[in-house]
Amino acid sequence: MVCLGNICRSPLAEGLLRKKLKEKGVTHIHVDSAGTSAHHEGELPDSRTRENALNHNLDISDITSRPFKPEDFERFDRIYVMDQSNMENVLLLARKREHETKVDLLLNCLEPGCNKSVPDPYFGGPEGFEKVFTMLDKATENLANELLKS
Ligand code: 4NP
Repeated sequence: MVCLGNICRSPLAEGLLRKKLKEKGVTHIHVDSAGTSAHHEGELPDSRTRENALNHNLDISDITSRPFKPEDFERFDRIYVMDQSNMENVLLLARKREHETKVDLLLNCLEPGCNKSVPDPYFGGPEGFEKVFTMLDKATENLANELLKS
């Protein structure tokens, strides 16, 4: 799961997908997240994201921000980005065609082929964090169900 800072959207997507896979009994899938920027490296998820997640009984305080690295193309089978800008930045690091084909927008798990973005809530109010939670909750539920079948 990849966003810009790895403190708002992608750690929440990581925490949600982990929780859903665990609840569905899927234990063989490794879930991680990263940011296209290293600006917040080592930081916990944004306090607003953590608080909003806790309101939904999800604790993501075990995640720390790290930058996306070219090696992630080898370590992971699928790379989900939150928006078009993340997509462009991740693809700049791709060295092979098979790397590029691993990358997709997370919201395509909800509306295939629509290429919609998860809006960045960082500079907005609390309603933006709740909206992002709702979107990521639905998208990761679809993804977890798909992974359960695979
Ligand atoms: P994220 O949100 O990409 O969802 O983690 C942001 C976090 C930090 C900044 C921008 C977006 N920032 O400009 O520092």
